[in-house]
Amino acid sequence: MKFFLDTANLDEIRKAAALGLADGVTTNPTLIAKEGDVDFKEHIAAICEIVSGPVSAEVSTAEKDEMLRQGREYVKIAPNVVIKCPLTADGLEATRILDQEGIKVNVTLCFSAAQAIMAAKAGASFISPFVGRLDDIGENGLLLVQDIVEIYRNYDWPTEVLAASMRHPIHVIEAARMGADIATIPFKVIDQLFNHPLTDKGQAQFLADWRKSGRS
Ligand code: E4P
Repeated sequence: MKFFLDTANLDEIRKAAALGLADGVTTNPTLIAKEGDVDFKEHIAAICEIVSGPVSAEVSTAEKDEMLRQGREYVKIAPNVVIKCPLTADGLEATRILDQEGIKVNVTLCFSAAQAIMAAKAGASFISPFVGRLDDIGENGLLLVQDIVEIYRNYDWPTEVLAASMRHPIHVIEAARMGADIATIPFKVIDQLFNHPLTDKGQAQFLADWRKSGRS
């Protein structure tokens, strides 16, 4: 399973890249807004300088023609830019056209298997089921990932399943178990994935015993 960083923060992306955990990056308007008064295109370009894999730049409109305009503009930023379109009728129409033009699209805001089927049919390169947000309303977001993986495999559809809205390590582990192609992970969860109190305790003990034995 590939690891994408679910952040627009350059420091976090650099840190994850140093750990070999940034196969790509997903951004959205909320994540870009968190970075303050940055120029959108310049910021995406800066991310693309750190990460050579797919970097999602999301359109900021509900209207198909404007999605196409933005998509065609954003792909010029760097060769690894992927356009993120919402799972709406306009978004799917834009996805189809952009795909026909050879532009990769990550279809976002997916909350049902039916929507995921529509996105694959429209030519999405990636589908982003939002696991955490389904959990938030009392549904099981991971079951959606499982359904989509099963359906896409039935037909060998090339759309990659990008498990999104990951809130904790169990989401990541289960998405991997289910065969999701990618998980997009906030930096906080990356930290949670490798930190373990017994590792810290064991390491401190090993170093203390080494020093006690008179070695430097
Ligand atoms: C990524 O592509 C999504 O925009 C992101 O995972 C949404 O996560 P959230 O539900 O934590 O905002």
